[in-house]
Amino acid sequence: MDTWRTAIIDAGPDHIRVRGHDVLELMRDATFTDLIFLLHHDRLPSPAERRLMDAILIGVADHGAGAPSCAAARLAASGNRQSPSAAVAAGILTIGDEHGGAGSACMEMIAAGLSRARRDGVSFDAEAARTVDEATRAKTRLPGFGHRVHTTIDPRVDVLFTLAADSGLAGDGIRFARALEAAVRERIKPIPLNIDGALAAILIDLGLPSMVGKLLFIVGRVAGLSAEVLEEYTREKPMRIKFPVEYDGVPPRSNGK
Ligand SMILES: CC(C)(COP(=O)(O)OP(=O)(O)OC[C@H]1O[C@@H](n2cnc3c(N)ncnc32)[C@H](O)[C@@H]1OP(=O)(O)O)[C@@H](O)C(=O)NCCC(=O)NCCS
Repeated sequence: MDTWRTAIIDAGPDHIRVRGHDVLELMRDATFTDLIFLLHHDRLPSPAERRLMDAILIGVADHGAGAPSCAAARLAASGNRQSPSAAVAAGILTIGDEHGGAGSACMEMIAAGLSRARRDGVSFDAEAARTVDEATRAKTRLPGFGHRVHTTIDPRVDVLFTLAADSGLAGDGIRFARALEAAVRERIKPIPLNIDGALAAILIDLGLPSMVGKLLFIVGRVAGLSAEVLEEYTREKPMRIKFPVEYDGVPPRSNGK
């Protein structure tokens, strides 16, 4: 019989190892953020990397009951009182390129920009302008830019970029993201870099693959969804969520006439 292959966990009757690290030692000496880093990378983080990952996870954990993932989780919890797992899953299912998951596409955009700039020997500013112009011509939105609530600035971005700069972890990913932000301002209008965009730039600098842009948001948001679901179950009545709905279809008509 073919076996499944994995390089993540080696578990047996007398041992559990995460990428070679004894889980009992990790339980004693590491943080949860260390473990998240180790699970997605091939090593433990440095103290500075841990701080940065922690800041990302805190930044994405929750954005209020009205954020699509939190609202969906609450709606599911309101109608289904037996399954917190279904409610948390309902929240996760809303995460995509528009909400919370733009980090992956933004990482791809930054990586493509960096490799074209290096290949063609052009400045990040020139390459960022080209990226923005291409998106404008294709009538597509730049992933990692814009926010429904933080319309002028997403305050979490500066915290993350300052932490990265202060600990020597800011690299070309962050530099190119800032060049993109300036090009967007100049060539479209001021649209702020959002938390997904900041996370994307940092994950590029940490050497993680682009899918982690989406997955890391999910990991952090599950903490918030869990709290939102708990509050919905413990504080609110079943089926309390109602929306005003307006029917604007055809008027009443008879079948077959
Ligand atoms: C997040 C988002 C849906 C918020 O949108 P919003 O605040 O409701 O903004 P609107 O959809 O009303 O757009 C307002 C204007 O800004 C433009 N705009 C907004 N985000 C843009 C982006 N990322 N790239 C290019 N233009 C953008 C829109 O085209 C629109 O222009 P118009 O007024 O000329 O039609 C939107 O910014 C977006 O799609 N961003 C990209 C995906 C993303 O990063 N998602 C993660 C959010 S944390």
